[in-house]
Amino acid sequence: MARLGGRLVLQHVSLAIPGGAITAIVGRSGAGKTTLIRTLNGLVRPCSGTVQVAGVGTLDGPQSWRAHRRRTATVFQDHALIGRLSAIDNVLLGLADQRHPLSLLPWPRTLRQRAATALDSVGLLARAEAPVCKLSGGERQRVGLARALVRDPALLLADEPFASVDPALVGQLSRDFRAAVWQCGLTVVIVLHQLDIALSIADRIIGLVDGHVAFDGPPCAFDSAARGRVFHNLRALSPLPKDAP
Ligand SMILES: Nc1ncnc2c1ncn2[C@@H]1O[C@H](COP(=O)(O)OP(=O)(O)OP(=O)(O)O)[C@@H](O)[C@H]1O
Ligand SMILES: [Mg+2]
Repeated sequence: MARLGGRLVLQHVSLAIPGGAITAIVGRSGAGKTTLIRTLNGLVRPCSGTVQVAGVGTLDGPQSWRAHRRRTATVFQDHALIGRLSAIDNVLLGLADQRHPLSLLPWPRTLRQRAATALDSVGLLARAEAPVCKLSGGERQRVGLARALVRDPALLLADEPFASVDPALVGQLSRDFRAAVWQCGLTVVIVLHQLDIALSIADRIIGLVDGHVAFDGPPCAFDSAARGRVFHNLRALSPLPKDAP
């Protein structure tokens, strides 16, 4: 369970995220999707229950959280970029834990090369030196994605990473996602509001309603009744009691 501002925002959420697969989280605005992502990366600590990670164990102290964070990268819904820095410098911030925090030296060539490769993978190498404040919303989103990918994470958490990317590019980026999963055994948990993209790239769909899991299964099982439950709060699959009005 997770509580924000005194309110229970996630309740009885019990999930096992399969490795090497894409799990998509869908649901209406305010359902708790971002909170679930933030619970998985430690920005929100559960008020009851635990997060357990294969190879790390239960995340119950600074050491286990640090180990988990080293293997995890997050693409934030609001990008969380620094506007005055160039695209490549923002991507390099994804590697900040790989050099001394107070270092004033230029980034080593090998890390700059990694950042350039990450920018190339999202089609933005040509804008590498442009300040992020001069990029479009979709371009910023792709810088955020490159900053996550450059960490070479085992777990990629992405909160609506395609929200303002144009549809042609969404197709390309979603194919890149799938390729990364297959090639690197990457585990992805991705919040998507484009249901068609979720159904086409995910191995599993989790539908949240008011902080509860209302659907959990493969895309082929996310039929119209399940969609009704998740997006319209219809009780199509749970019959009303006989004495209901
Ligand atoms: N810092 C906070 N303090 C109090 N309540 C919060 C806070 N952040 C989020 N909430 C509330 O928690 C609920 C879930 O928010 P969350 O951001 O997880 O939703 P979401 O499913 O990601 O929505 P969206 O699709 O709009 O991004 C919402 O009702 C929201 O108002
Ligand atoms: Mg959100």
